[in-house]
Amino acid sequence: MGKMWAGRFSKELDGTADDFNSSISFDRRMFRQDIRGSIAHATMLGSKGIISAADSAAITAELGAILEELESGRLEIDQSCEDIHMFVEQVLTERLGEVGKRLHTARSRNDQVATDLRLWVRDECQKVQQGIKEVLEAIVYQAERNTGSIMPGYTHLQRAQPVTFGHYLMAYAMMLIRDAGRLDDACKRMNVCPLGSCALAGTTFDLDRSMTASALGFDSFCLNSLDGVSDRDFCVEITSALATLMMHLSRMSEEIILWASWEFKFIELDDSYTTGSSIMPQKKNPDMAELIRGKTGRVYGDLIALLTALKGLPLAYNKDMQEDKEAIFDAFDTAEMCLSVLAPMVRTMRSCPDNMKAAAQKGFINATDLADYLVKQGMPFRAAYKVVGQMVGECIANHKVLEDLSLDEFKQHSELFEADVYEAISLETCVNKRISEGGPTEPSVKKQIAYVTEFLK
Ligand code: ARG
Repeated sequence: MGKMWAGRFSKELDGTADDFNSSISFDRRMFRQDIRGSIAHATMLGSKGIISAADSAAITAELGAILEELESGRLEIDQSCEDIHMFVEQVLTERLGEVGKRLHTARSRNDQVATDLRLWVRDECQKVQQGIKEVLEAIVYQAERNTGSIMPGYTHLQRAQPVTFGHYLMAYAMMLIRDAGRLDDACKRMNVCPLGSCALAGTTFDLDRSMTASALGFDSFCLNSLDGVSDRDFCVEITSALATLMMHLSRMSEEIILWASWEFKFIELDDSYTTGSSIMPQKKNPDMAELIRGKTGRVYGDLIALLTALKGLPLAYNKDMQEDKEAIFDAFDTAEMCLSVLAPMVRTMRSCPDNMKAAAQKGFINATDLADYLVKQGMPFRAAYKVVGQMVGECIANHKVLEDLSLDEFKQHSELFEADVYEAISLETCVNKRISEGGPTEPSVKKQIAYVTEFLK
C-alpha cells in the first residue's frame, strides 16, 4: 500500500507516525511482567504439546536469561522497537532463531498487554499498601503520644467542640484503612487472566488457560475473550481508589499546612521536611504537604483520562487502549511518592499541646457542654440551647468567656446552675466526659489505635 504516495510523504512522515505509534518509551516498565507472562505461556504451550517440550524449555530458559540481563543492565532496551512485547520477542528470536518464533503461538499482543498490565498493577498495589501502612504507623506513633493533647475541633473551620490531637489524627487513619480496602477489593476483581483470549476470538489451539492463570497467580481466567482483551475496568477502579487515597492525603496535608502556620502552631514540622525562602530569612515552608495537595490533581486527571479514553470504544481491542498505561503509571508513581514523603513527615513532626490548649480555651468551645449541664438538671435541650446562646452573646459583648461569669451571673440565666458548673465546663471535663463510642476520650482513642494496630499486623 501507499507506493504512490509513499514518494510524496517520504520517510519523515513515517518516522513521526512510528514515534506516535510507539509505546516502548513508557511500557518498557513492564518488562518483568511481560517476561513472566511469556514464560507461563511457553510453559503451557509445551505442556499441551502445542510446541515441543524442548522448544518450550529453550524459550523459558532464554526468557529467564533476558530478564536477568535486563535487571542487571547488561541488556539494554532497544527504543526503536514498537513496544516492550515486540522487544522481548525480537531478542528471543535473535538468540533462538526458529524456536523463538514459536513463542507467539496462540497469543496476541492484545491478551499479552492486558495480562502484563494486570500483573504490573498487582505488583504496584503491594507497594501502595506498604506506603499506606507506613503512614498509618506514623499516625499511630503521633496519636499514642497525643491522647491527652486537647485541641479545638472545628466545623466550618470555626472552633466547635474540644477533642484531642490523637483523636484528630486517628480520623485520618480510618480513611487510610478504607483506602487499603478499596485497593484490595479492586485487586480481587482484577485478578483474572486474559491470556488465551488471543486477539479477540480465542484460538483453535487446545490451550490450558487455568494453567497459565495459576502460574501467574491469577484466581481464574477471563470468561469472555472479547471482554478479556478490551476490559480496562481494573485501571479505572484502581485509579479511582488512588484518587480517593490522594484526596485523603490532600486533606491531611491541608491541615498540616494550617497547623504548622504561625496562626495555629499546633505542630512544628521537622527541618528535613520543610524548605526555606530565597528572600525571606524567617520562612519555613511546608512544601512537601503543599506538593501532596497539588499532586492530587494529577491523579484525578489520570482517572478522567482513563474514563474518557475508554468511553465509546467498540469491542474489542483498539489502539486507544495504549493510552491506559501512562495514566495508570502516573497515578501509581504519584501516590507512592506522596505516601513515602508523608510517612516520615508525620512521624518527625512535633506537636505543641500548649498552643492547642490555648486555642481550645477561646471560642466558647464548651457552650454545648453548658447546655448539656442544664439538660442534665432537667431542662429540655432546645430551651437550654437558647439560654446558653444568650449567655454567649452577653459574654462576647462584655469581652468575657463563660467560665469568667460568677455563680450569681450564672443563676441570673437559670436557677438550675450550681457551683459544680465550673467543673462541668472545664476543657478536661468537656473531653473526658464525652464517653460515647468513637469520641475523643483517652480510652476511646486507645481503642481506635488498637483497631489500627490490629489492621497493621
Ligand atoms: N502497545 C500496545 C498497547 O499498549 C500493545 C497492543 C498492541 N495490539 C495491537 N493490536 N496493535 O496497547
